[in-house]
Amino acid sequence: MLKILNVLMPDNTRQTITRPYIDDLIIDGSDLLALPGLIDPHVHFRVPGMEDKEDWQHASVAAIKGGVTTVFDMPNTKPATTTAERLHDKFNIINTQLTEVNLPLRYKLFFGADKNQFHEIVKVKDEIVGIKVFMGASTGDLLMDDESSLHAIYALAKAHNLLIALHAEDELIIRNNAKRYAAETDFKYHSIIREPQAAVKAVELVIKLTEIYNVPSYILHISTAGELALVKDAKLRGLPVYVETCPHYLFLDDSQYPDLAGRGKMNPPLRAKADQSILWQALNEGVIDTIGSDHAPHKLDEKEQPLCKCPSGVPGIETTLPLLITAWQQGKLSLTKLVELTHDNPQRIFNLPINDDLVLVDIVNKRTLIDEQMATKCKWTPFVGIELYGFPRYVYLNQQLFDCSKF
Ligand code: DOR
Ligand code: ZN
Repeated sequence: MLKILNVLMPDNTRQTITRPYIDDLIIDGSDLLALPGLIDPHVHFRVPGMEDKEDWQHASVAAIKGGVTTVFDMPNTKPATTTAERLHDKFNIINTQLTEVNLPLRYKLFFGADKNQFHEIVKVKDEIVGIKVFMGASTGDLLMDDESSLHAIYALAKAHNLLIALHAEDELIIRNNAKRYAAETDFKYHSIIREPQAAVKAVELVIKLTEIYNVPSYILHISTAGELALVKDAKLRGLPVYVETCPHYLFLDDSQYPDLAGRGKMNPPLRAKADQSILWQALNEGVIDTIGSDHAPHKLDEKEQPLCKCPSGVPGIETTLPLLITAWQQGKLSLTKLVELTHDNPQRIFNLPINDDLVLVDIVNKRTLIDEQMATKCKWTPFVGIELYGFPRYVYLNQQLFDCSKF
């Protein structure tokens, strides 16, 4: 039996925690905080087809080092996960890669919405966590920006009791802005091209569709005050709209492009400080349901290219928890809120079975983030150089104990 003595709990008590299946082991928990294993509902582990950026051998280590024991992986792979056959191939590859490193990371897969392959969704409906819709184009070739296809996917989701996760950015606004600012080279134009109104307009449509079809809609990576106002109103009207934000919107903003350059390029883009403070407020008021890392690795040499060539996306799975723990220590959120966002809410929204995964977090020692020390295959972080508390020391996952210092 594993015993952790005198460990800090999210309700601020000190307790002794036990877990079965481990040979006699006692851990002094005086410097540690115990949290349920984090659920990260939004990752891009790049398999198949982009293994030069990430794979499950590396990403599973990054997950555990970040206290994450469950991930939901996105379908914008090469090829995109839009057929039953591709989904099954993907399960096989992932299972092989996880077996290779002997890490029992829990995972589920989103299925990509492709208007020419809707019939495939019915075949896999019991094997997926939901359907992913790209309303605006991003990495990969998945895009569904016409309203009639959106109606069709909502009708299908209704008929088969499925959840829809949405990348909500309006493609037309982005394309027009991209033309207008085509000659610009400063990275700040990424935020101008993908302006807040592009997100707001798409979220408006999502809420309309949710109301018509009464299908649960999970809006990925919310980043603006305008989106939050719409979501708040939709929730008050009782609509099944759930929203996620990401650490980069909570801890970085568009004034940092001079330092970040390509490391600050992701979709949706970084926003103004004013949006960020409204995000924090919404998070504490319960308007935001979850935090997804949107772990989207690209190689550093790709990210060091000029604006027009630099791909969008940043790694993040191993920094979410330390960023949030450090924010807790600065009084920006409570531990109970942290647990709601990273565990309780995603478990409820996605109907996951209960498990007894546990993260034991070091709340005493600080560490500076260094690119080379990241476990992700891409070996960099947009938070490089930042000093944080809250790195996990042990993770109990699927009845096994992992010592994070061994990775
Ligand atoms: O920045 C992003 N990167 N946003 C997305 O929607 C996709 C992701 C990726 O896969 O690279
Ligand atoms: Zn994403």
